[in-house]
Order: sequence, then C-alpha cells, then structure tokens
Amino acid sequence: MDQVNSFQGRRIVLGVCGGIAAYKAIELCRQLVDAGAFVSVVMTESSKEFVGEATFSALSSEAVWSSLFAEQDPIPHTRLGQAADLIVVAPATARLISAYATGYSHDLLTNVLLATRAPVVICPAMHTEMWEHPAVQDNLKILSQRGVHVVDPEEGRLAGGDIGSGRLAGTERVLEAMRGVLSSSTPSGEVRGDEILEPSASGLHGLNVLVTAGGTREPIDPVRYIGNRSSGKQGHALAEEALARGAAVTLVTTTQIATSPAITCVSVDTAQEMHDAVMSRSATADGIVMAAAVADFAPSQIATEKLKKSDGAPMLEMHPTIDILAALGSCKPNGQTLVGFAAETQDVRENAERKLKDKQADILVVNDVAAPGVGFEFETNEVAILCAASEDRFVPLTDKRSVAAVVLDVVVSTRSAQEPVPSSGE
Ligand code: CTP
Repeated sequence: MDQVNSFQGRRIVLGVCGGIAAYKAIELCRQLVDAGAFVSVVMTESSKEFVGEATFSALSSEAVWSSLFAEQDPIPHTRLGQAADLIVVAPATARLISAYATGYSHDLLTNVLLATRAPVVICPAMHTEMWEHPAVQDNLKILSQRGVHVVDPEEGRLAGGDIGSGRLAGTERVLEAMRGVLSSSTPSGEVRGDEILEPSASGLHGLNVLVTAGGTREPIDPVRYIGNRSSGKQGHALAEEALARGAAVTLVTTTQIATSPAITCVSVDTAQEMHDAVMSRSATADGIVMAAAVADFAPSQIATEKLKKSDGAPMLEMHPTIDILAALGSCKPNGQTLVGFAAETQDVRENAERKLKDKQADILVVNDVAAPGVGFEFETNEVAILCAASEDRFVPLTDKRSVAAVVLDVVVSTRSAQEPVPSSGE
C-alpha cells in the first residue's frame, strides 16, 4: 500500500547544533529533500566545527543560513519562522535547549524558534551525564509543556567511545515523529499574513493533552507487587489519537507499549509516582484524560528483602493512595477539560454518575468490564460517555482507537461549548 508522502511540498526548517551528531543531520536533510520537502538549513556557529555549510548547500533545495544579519535577507528569522510548516532541530544540544526554554535569542536558530507558530520537533543528543542532568530535563519539561515535540535520544556508542543514553534518535524515528506532527497540521500555504487559522472541528491543534495509561503496581517486596488487569491499550490509543489531531501529547504510563516518537512518554510504576508525574504537569494541560487504573490502596511497608514462603503468609497493612482525578478536579484551572474513566462490574450507571460528580470531572467514560470483549486486555471496548454539560454518548463494541476518537470528539465539543461567544460588536 502506498504511504501518503507527508513531506511533499512542505517547508521544513532544519536546525543543526554543534555536536558530533551534526553529521547525521546530513542524511536527515537528504531524505527530506528526496521526499519533496523544501528544506532550509539553519546552522549554529559551533555546528560548523563538525560539518561544512557547503555540504548542506549541495543537498538542500533552499539557502543555508547561520547569521541573523545575512545580506540576502535583513530579517531571515521572521521569514523562516513564518513560512515553516515544521521546524526540526537535530541534533539539539543542552545549550540550544536551555536557550529555547528561557527565550534567550542569541543566534539565528534561537530567533527562528521564537519567531514561529509552526510545530517544533527537538531531537536532543549529548553525553549521558548531560542528558540526565536535572537542568536539561527541566528545560525539556518546560518545552514539552509548551507543546514542543521532543524525540528522546537512544542508547548507544557516544563520542569518545562511551556507551549510554544520549545518542541522537535514528533518522527513521525522527522522520516518523515529523510525519506524525505534519499529518495533523495545516500547510503553510494556507497562512496569510498575521491571520491565525482556526483549528478544525475535530482537531486539538496547539493544545497540550496529558493522558495516563495502564495499571499501577504497588510493591510488596523487591519481586512482588499488587497490580490490576489494565493493559494500558485504551490510554495509548487515546494518546495516539490526540497526537493525530494535532495536540502535543504527554503520556504517563506504566506499560512498555511502543508509542509514536512525537509523544512525550513518562514511565511510572506506582500510584504515588503517577500522582507526582501528573500533578507536576497538570497546570499547563488543556486536557487531561485519566485512563489509568490507579491502585486505591498500597502496602504501608515495602520489605527490603524478598519475603520467604517459609515465614508464612504476610499480613499486609495497606494505606489509601491519593485519588489523582479528584485532586485534579479540585484545582482545575479555567479552560481545562478533565476526563475520568471507570471500569465497573455492577450498578454501572449509578457508580459512573457518582464518580463524575464527586471527582468534578467534565467527562466520565465508563465500561462494564463484566461484558464480553470489553475493557482490560481486550483490543476492543464498549463505553458510555457521561458528560457534565451535555448529552451522554454510547459507543458500541469497537476497537480502542475508535473509542478514543469518540472520547476526543466529546472533549472537542465540550471545549467549544465552554468557549465564550465573541460579541458581535454591535
Ligand atoms: N483514579 C485516580 N486515582 C486513584 C484512583 C482512581 O485518579 N487513586 C481515577 C482513575 O484513573 C479513573 C477514575 O479515577 O479515571 C475512576 O477510577 P475507579 O478505580 O473506577 O474509581 P475509584 O474512585 O477507585 O472507585 P471504586 O474503586 O470504588 O470503583
């Protein structure tokens, strides 16, 4: 089957920073040009220590830029930023990430990044110690909360022969992330002057969406935990669907399911870790979907050594976990849409209505997990979507991606119903 060429006719700015991985940007540039994209390369001064301007000039269809004060165009940063359908920075160094996060526009690339409304994909590459440094991680968190798509680096051999995480993501992963972002965004040809295009009725363009997925695991000892049967498939389907609709997506998940590179994944295990990961990102989220099955109780003591059978059945003392959805509902900022899930086996409707109200959610998606083919572990689901502000929806048994599509349709319609009606001015 022919794959749609997402790059044909698209205007891409390829930012290249000074790191050993700069040579890999050459292959990225070549593949984009081969796919029909108009590629403008913006090099930082230090990138020229690693690759030559002439290499990119020979490959790319457009001029190569590196100075804010280029003779051919006195203000290249605004022109490049306004015309771009997408900006990708590969490799992105710790310095570029820091400058972009703080708005420090000291060179052409940082100016272009600040002077654009186009989606941005950042592909960090650096030594493991730098990659893991809290300063770098905090800056990346700021950027992803602003809707920047981050393609995490990979494990492998680094400069100087060290092995660890920090190697630039492979070209195919970078291209896949760019395709994901482009498939949901508007071509630059439709932007005129300062006019801002409205998002499509089914779209989540420019919104930050936070999704949780999977069942939490509460440890008893180093090898055992209390878990539940949630597979995380519905949460992952929601994250992929939100990405396809143009959102910048953060997925807090307990599973190892592969996701699109443009989704920012945060791995957690316990209810407390999920709580911390969600609450630290919630303030800037336009929509939060709590699809995870969060444990209600956790063992109060975690044995440091494996409990031995010969010592007899352990008496576990448990304590209640924090209800993340209820915590989010109690401090929900204006304009945020909060979606909860409920898996029920009896009194489905009553329980769902109570949870919607008690947890102050806008939408509650409920399934009867006792029904065949529904919920945990299955590829399919059947749900009722209860809405605090509008009519309920019922989604008969179907695949989880289709369920995700209807849930996000309800999110979009809830948001547009909440938007203030502009006055006619009369
Ligand atoms: N939830 C949560 N934090 C918890 C427990 C649940 O955020 N500690 C969220 C789930 O992610 C889901 C919703 O609350 O979106 C409902 O979860 P559910 O387990 O069905 O409800 P509970 O409040 O735990 O009620 P019960 O166990 O009595 O059914």
